Amino acid sequence: MNTFEVFKLYPIAIESAKGLELTDSEGKKYLDLYGGHGVISIGHSQPDYVKRITEQINKIGFYSNSVRIPFQEELAQKLQKISGYSDYKLFLVNSGAEANENALKLASFYTNRSKVIAFRKAFHGRTSLAVAVTDSPAIQAPINKTDKVLWAELNDIESVKAVMDNDVAAVIIEGIQGVGGVKIPTNDFLRQLRELCTQNGSLLIVDEIQCGYGRTGKFFYHQYSGVKADIISMAKGIANGFPVGAIMINPEIPAKFGMLGTTFGGNHLGCAAALATVEVMMRDNLVDNAAKMGEYLFGKLRGNKAIKDLRGKGLMVGIETVGDASEIRNKLLFDEHIFTGFSGGVNTIRLIPPLCITEKEIDRFVEAFDKVTQ
Ligand SMILES: Cc1ncc(COP(=O)(O)O)c(C=O)c1O
Repeated sequence: MNTFEVFKLYPIAIESAKGLELTDSEGKKYLDLYGGHGVISIGHSQPDYVKRITEQINKIGFYSNSVRIPFQEELAQKLQKISGYSDYKLFLVNSGAEANENALKLASFYTNRSKVIAFRKAFHGRTSLAVAVTDSPAIQAPINKTDKVLWAELNDIESVKAVMDNDVAAVIIEGIQGVGGVKIPTNDFLRQLRELCTQNGSLLIVDEIQCGYGRTGKFFYHQYSGVKADIISMAKGIANGFPVGAIMINPEIPAKFGMLGTTFGGNHLGCAAALATVEVMMRDNLVDNAAKMGEYLFGKLRGNKAIKDLRGKGLMVGIETVGDASEIRNKLLFDEHIFTGFSGGVNTIRLIPPLCITEKEIDRFVEAFDKVTQ
C-alpha cells in the first residue's frame, strides 16, 4: 500500500531534533524556523517535556471521558493563570479543526441560530464546518459548500454589518491570519467587531490556533486590543507536538450533557504533554521571550531591499519579498539548511519558530537571508 499523496513533500527525512535543530537521515543539521507548522513551542525534545510524557506513559496513557481526569482541571487552572481568562471553561479535543468545529457548533447551540460570518483569506481547518468558514474553494468538497456562511473583508466593519442579521450565531476570526499571508486585524476593528457581536447577540470566536499560545508576545494576539472573545480556539503550540486542541468558553454559555463530546480529547498523555508545555512556558518566560525575540528579528530584517513588506508580531512573522519567495525559501533550505514556511497566495515567507529561539539563532537566519537575497 502507498500513502495518499495530498502533500508536496521535501525529499528530507528528519530523524531527530533538539531545541531548534533538526537532524536528517544523512546527518545534515537544519535550523527550524517553522516548527512543523508552528507546533513546536518550547523546542524539540525539550527535556522536562520528554520526562513528563515518559513518566505518564509508564503509569497510564489513556482513559476516556467516562471518568474524571484531574489533569484536565490542572491544565484549566494553569491556562487561566497564563492567559488571564480567569473564569472561562476548557474543552479539550485533538486538533485545530476540531476545536473550531466545536466552537461553531457550540455557538449555534447557544444562540439557536444557524449562520456564521467569516473573513476572506481565512483558514480555519479542513473538517466540515471549519472548511466551510475557510476561504479556499479548492479545499471545499461539494458537501462543504453552504449558504450558512457569510463573508466579510478583514478590517472593514461595514462589510461585516452588511451581512449581519439575527440568524448569525457567531463571527469567527483568526487573531492574525496565518495561511492568508500574516494579515493582522487592527485593534480598532477587533473592538468594533466585539461591539457589533454583543449588540446582535452573536458570539465572537477568535481562532488563536496559529498565532496564539504566546507566539505574539501576549498569550493571545487579540488581547492587544483589550477585547474578550466568547470562545477561543487553540491547538498547534499547546502540547509541543502532541495532538491536542482546545476551546476556552465564556462561562455564560451553559454546558449540557452530550452537546459536545470526544473519545481521545483530554486523555492522560495529551494532558501531560500540554501541562509540561505550559509549565515550561511559564518557568522560562517564553511569552516574554517571543516578544523580545520578535522585536530583535524585526529590527534586523528592516532595511533589507529584498523585502517588500514585513508583517506580524512577536514570533509570527510574514516577510513579503520583492522576488520569488519560493526560490528564496528553497535556497534557505537546501543551501543554508534553514526551514521556513510559506503563506499561500502572496509572496510571503512565514516564520513561526519555537518560542525559545535565541538571538544567536536569529542572527544565523538573518545572515543567511541577506546572503540568499543579495
Ligand atoms: C488559524 C488556523 N486554524 C485552524 C487550523 C487547523 O488546525 P489543524 O490542522 O490542527 O486541524 C490551522 C492550521 O494550520 C490554522 O492555522
